[in-house]
Amino acid sequence: MNQQLDTQLTLSINGEPVSIREFSPAMTLLEYLRLSGRAGTKEGCGDGDCGACTVALIGVGADGQPQYQAVNSCLIPLGAVAGRQVFTADGITVGAIPKNPLVKEPVTADQLHPVQAAMVETGGSQCGYCTPGFIMSLFAAYYDGQPDDLAVEGNLCRCTGYLPIRRAAQMVGELTAPDRFSEQLVSAPTELLPLAYTGHGEQFYRPTHLADVLALLQQFPTATLVAGATDLGLEMSWHRQHYPVLISLEAVEELNHIQQTEDFVEIGAAVPLSHIEANLHGLFPSLDEMIHWFAARQVRNRATLGGNIGTASPIGDLPPVLLSLEAILKLAGPAGERTLPLANFFTGYRQTELQTGEVIVSVQIPKAFTPGTARRLAQSYKIGKRGTDDISIVAAAFVVDVGAENQILHARLGYGGVAATPARATAAEKFLVGKPWNSDTIQAVKPILQEVFTPLTDLRGSAAYRQRLVVNLFEKFWVEFP
Ligand SMILES: Cc1cc2nc3c(=O)[nH]c(=O)nc-3n(C[C@H](O)[C@H](O)[C@H](O)COP(=O)(O)OP(=O)(O)OC[C@H]3O[C@@H](n4cnc5c(N)ncnc54)[C@H](O)[C@@H]3O)c2cc1C
Ligand code: FES
Ligand code: FES
Repeated sequence: MNQQLDTQLTLSINGEPVSIREFSPAMTLLEYLRLSGRAGTKEGCGDGDCGACTVALIGVGADGQPQYQAVNSCLIPLGAVAGRQVFTADGITVGAIPKNPLVKEPVTADQLHPVQAAMVETGGSQCGYCTPGFIMSLFAAYYDGQPDDLAVEGNLCRCTGYLPIRRAAQMVGELTAPDRFSEQLVSAPTELLPLAYTGHGEQFYRPTHLADVLALLQQFPTATLVAGATDLGLEMSWHRQHYPVLISLEAVEELNHIQQTEDFVEIGAAVPLSHIEANLHGLFPSLDEMIHWFAARQVRNRATLGGNIGTASPIGDLPPVLLSLEAILKLAGPAGERTLPLANFFTGYRQTELQTGEVIVSVQIPKAFTPGTARRLAQSYKIGKRGTDDISIVAAAFVVDVGAENQILHARLGYGGVAATPARATAAEKFLVGKPWNSDTIQAVKPILQEVFTPLTDLRGSAAYRQRLVVNLFEKFWVEFP
């Protein structure tokens, strides 16, 4: 790729071209919006939890078509929005675009976007702090044909209450006639071009090919990889962390495919979870279930599988599922490509097999069941303090292949939140194989499961509670799939 560094980064905000110089590429979009006077976008939590800062970006939807995507602007670094079109709550009126978007002109009722009008009509706003975020989540959903509860699951409101907001979502319905936003979407360019930007003494690269990523990693061995930035973004937002060199993976072609062969499904490390959710639905029920409970729409629009594995967090939700499905990682580095089972990837707390200069390219999930399988039983469970948008206390995922005689042919039990790394309960797996899939076997495996892990106590749950969850979640699995 061209190594010439640009000192200017361009994007479009509410239809207006914007050039940015001298800003850190790790500054969050939210901070930039507010610093530049576009204060309609609010900061609530600054860590992706409340949705107040939601904006819409034009990106590629799961069907490959341009789509308005709700994202948390408090997590997304400026470098990642280069060349993109951003829309905020103060730029979506349906009248003419104001000449100077920074000069507030009164908006008449007939200029309100249907989403804004519906919120006014149902009294969906009181203090109004959360409102721009709700508006933008509903805006994105409106053009996607799904302005429902799930569209606003990542938005918190502390004073109005959700009923009027839900009524607004129901009232707005689907787009019936084209408007300037739907027309803009049809012709919107979505291809992310290569970028090499420097500002504030920091560099941000957005290569489009794996070879360029590897070359950059050779040149900058201590560079930081960034995909959706839903994890790294917290450092940028909360700790104002700066990175001398950031290498974005989101435009890398080789990391952005979902491929299916007869034997396995291969998911590129940079594919957003919302694409996996839509395009693989029904193929791996335990993956569907876990993605459903993974954060909220804004985060799933950005978060990737590679990022979830790359964080090596012991409470990452997808590794337990992938462990139970015996996923294999494809890594690439200076010595070429190699594969290794995910089960061998995590080596210690936040430590992995990934070597300097290597990157996770994809995750392969085998499709085949154990020979002789009459029934494959598979499910995942997430226990958190809240139903949605919460970090797990314990996550678990199970796969059990049962033969025609009801004997267990194969068992994989993946857990998160109970050890320094996501891990399998191998002693229990060994015990189960060859036994009948019945209540006696479940009772007999419980003492083994009780002893497999030695979890820690932390703010979210005690060690004893976690230990009981390890056992009880497997029993729940049996109850659901007798
Ligand atoms: C509000 C909120 C809710 C969340 N909810 C959940 C949840 O329910 N469950 C859960 O598990 N997590 C959750 N997370 C954490 C985060 O969203 C996930 O870990 C996500 O999958 C990270 O993906 P990303 O692409 O955004 O990673 P990034 O933030 O871009 O990167 C994370 C790390 O992985 C590395 N990395 C990224 N891609 C690669 C690659 N291809 N090869 C090597 N290293 C790589 C980066 O260098 C970085 O160290 C939540 C986060 C927020 C802010
Ligand atoms: S400010 Fe709360 S999600 Fe961004
Ligand atoms: S209107 Fe006040 S937080 Fe929602």
